[in-house]
Amino acid sequence: MPSRLQNKVAVISGGASGIGAAAARLFVAEGACVIVADLQEPLDRKLADLISTDPDKIRFVKCDVSIEDEVVAAIEAAASAFGKLDTVVACAGVPGMGAAGDISAEHWDKTFAVNARGVFLFTKYAIPHMIKAGGGSIINISSAFGIVAGPQFAAYAASKGAVRNFSKATALDYIGQGIRSNSIHPGYIDTPIVQNIISNAEDTDAAQSMFNALQPGGHAGAPEDIAWGCVYLASDEARFVTGAELVIDGGLLAR
Ligand SMILES: NC(=O)c1ccc[n+]([C@@H]2O[C@H](COP(=O)([O-])OP(=O)(O)OC[C@H]3O[C@@H](n4cnc5c(N)ncnc54)[C@H](O)[C@@H]3O)[C@@H](O)[C@H]2O)c1
Repeated sequence: MPSRLQNKVAVISGGASGIGAAAARLFVAEGACVIVADLQEPLDRKLADLISTDPDKIRFVKCDVSIEDEVVAAIEAAASAFGKLDTVVACAGVPGMGAAGDISAEHWDKTFAVNARGVFLFTKYAIPHMIKAGGGSIINISSAFGIVAGPQFAAYAASKGAVRNFSKATALDYIGQGIRSNSIHPGYIDTPIVQNIISNAEDTDAAQSMFNALQPGGHAGAPEDIAWGCVYLASDEARFVTGAELVIDGGLLAR
């Protein structure tokens, strides 16, 4: 089987854990070179091993996606380590929970700084490299809650809705330069972002049941379920796919 991402060079934000880490591993397995950009060192053991043994294929750069200079450094790291940049997966995210009347303006701003500004900065600084490379693929991780809302997710749902429409705006602005831009909308996926919400809840059993009940199948998806969608959108198989919202949610939005 030829590799689906041969000769691609990607930066994956939020790649230290969960969906981003699964995407980083699959991208390397499919032939891409990858920069993992995250606040924290990789939590995922298999990914950490890969980074320490194969620097010709994958490297880690510490990066807060809300800080412009750090995003520039992560993007430049891809170009200088691997000669070009043609793919970005903007996966870093924070939960931003609470109803509008209960959250502070600072909480709102912090949620948007990571979930919306961070996505914008990755697109902004990747574009000149993609134009130079003759095209590229921007993959922004939104959420099912970027299409519908969920109770107690006011800032999160608003920030993920912003990602959805920002991805479409970019698709229209750069179609002439061969740059595709799409959003992915996961349902409930078993990763630390949700595990932490559940373990910090007053009633952890009730919180777990609430998340399971969102899913028609009654259980979470795995990080790889979303990561394969990233592989597809990064590959030339998706050459006619831009401005789209790829829902991978185990049927959550079908009801
Ligand atoms: N897990 C789910 O159910 C689910 C559902 C829908 C959407 N999502 C989205 O998927 C994306 C990945 O989340 P996940 O489920 O893999 O969770 P996760 O917690 O495993 O991964 C999130 C990663 O983002 C990183 N991060 C957070 N703030 C950052 C910042 N300022 N700069 C750089 N990195 C930062 C974290 O360090 C972490 O490694 C998020 O955008 C999340 O909103 C997740």
